[in-house]
Amino acid sequence: MTNVEHYDAEHYEPGVSRVFQTKDETRAFYDKIARVYDLLAERSEQPMREAGLRMLAAQSNERILEIGYGTGHCIVDLAKAVGPDGEVWGIDLSQNMQGIAQQLAEREGLADRVRLDCGDAAHLPYESESVDGIFTSFTLELFDTPDLPSVLTEWRRVLRTSGRLVVVGLSKEGRQGLVMKAYEWTHKHFPNLMDCRPIFVSRALEAAGFTIADQSIEHMWVAVEVVKGVKGT
Ligand SMILES: C[S@@+](CC[C@H](N)C(=O)[O-])C[C@H]1O[C@@H](n2cnc3c(N)ncnc32)[C@H](O)[C@@H]1O
Repeated sequence: MTNVEHYDAEHYEPGVSRVFQTKDETRAFYDKIARVYDLLAERSEQPMREAGLRMLAAQSNERILEIGYGTGHCIVDLAKAVGPDGEVWGIDLSQNMQGIAQQLAEREGLADRVRLDCGDAAHLPYESESVDGIFTSFTLELFDTPDLPSVLTEWRRVLRTSGRLVVVGLSKEGRQGLVMKAYEWTHKHFPNLMDCRPIFVSRALEAAGFTIADQSIEHMWVAVEVVKGVKGT
């Protein structure tokens, strides 16, 4: 495992753009777009999330945490997968996202097995080794590059030994065409419009001490990594 104090971002994340928005700006952005998020979100993201959920393969009775649950569609899928004796926890920075996801869980009749928190996932309000699995889609790439190791170490803390983390995220691996270059340019010059940027997902997980158990590089209009990291002893 990399020593978080001496994380060499240029080694693990070469050429990855920094994050230019503060957490308050990110929260305000998602609060503002929460009601229209499902209309704005790119349709091609859905198969990526589904690939991630298949890789996680949540089982009945498990407790699964979703980080950055947004409008809550994956929370619903996870709650169905863990069944009435399982639990799904979620944490998201945006209070408006929390409200929408909570309403969805209630409409689906799943609220009794769902607990949705609002907060910064850099510091999780959960006990160590308290969840069987963690799922996150299009959220890890919102954390700044030097923060990735400490954020992933925090997520690893709440996973039980042998538990798995599945990350679906925009990736610097694979084909990097003109569209990705335009995307990164927009992120750099208009971070308030394009808050995400591609990162090296699998390398970041490895650097934080996860064993990579499965990974694929998918292509929507940009490359997306779907990675499963396991917490060893
Ligand atoms: C791009 S959206 C993705 C939402 C959902 N996972 C999906 O795939 O549609 C990112 C989500 O992460 C949340 N988020 C951003 N920064 C966060 C942080 N530091 N801690 C927790 N959630 C965060 C945002 O509020 C937003 O709901």
